[in-house]
Amino acid sequence: MPQLQKDFSYPDFGLRLMKGLPMLFFGGKDSYTFMHYDIDLANIFHFHFDGKKQCILFDQKQNKHLYKIPHSLITREDIDFSNPDFNKWPALKNAKGFVANLEHGNILYMPEGWWHYMRYITPGFSMSLRAIARHPKNLSKAIYNVFIMRHFDNLMRRLKGQKWIDWKNEQAVIRTNKNLQFRFVLKNK
Ligand SMILES: [Fe+2]
Repeated sequence: MPQLQKDFSYPDFGLRLMKGLPMLFFGGKDSYTFMHYDIDLANIFHFHFDGKKQCILFDQKQNKHLYKIPHSLITREDIDFSNPDFNKWPALKNAKGFVANLEHGNILYMPEGWWHYMRYITPGFSMSLRAIARHPKNLSKAIYNVFIMRHFDNLMRRLKGQKWIDWKNEQAVIRTNKNLQFRFVLKNK
């Protein structure tokens, strides 16, 4: 709906907003997104217009606790972040995050590269305005994700199919649990 782009003006946040890419999101009750971070590690301003929405956020330092899938931007898809099973996913107990409950008129700022999971408690919609990553480390990660990681992952999917997906899911658990054991050993020394 390109005409909707004329329906608002860009606020001045002191960041250069990507004006070609305003995004509008709609959700029904209990719909949600997987825990993920955006491929370009952008700064995100999330304007919430209607309904109640819950967002769970983690910074990139929490990756080792999140059962992150290698070569991708998501965590294990079978984790329910709104009600996590800590027996099945014990490392999540060590993850330090934030919960934001959005209502009409709220704006959530997500710093570049932050993980986000969003759940529509009631039907609603929001808009995101985004600004390019400014931290050099994040910018180089964004370039790597867009130009290498994405293509490598697609290639492996084509070559190995389900086997590649199964291997990644397995690795997410192995790598996170390895870190968990290491923390346990350190703590008990
Ligand atoms: Fe996102």
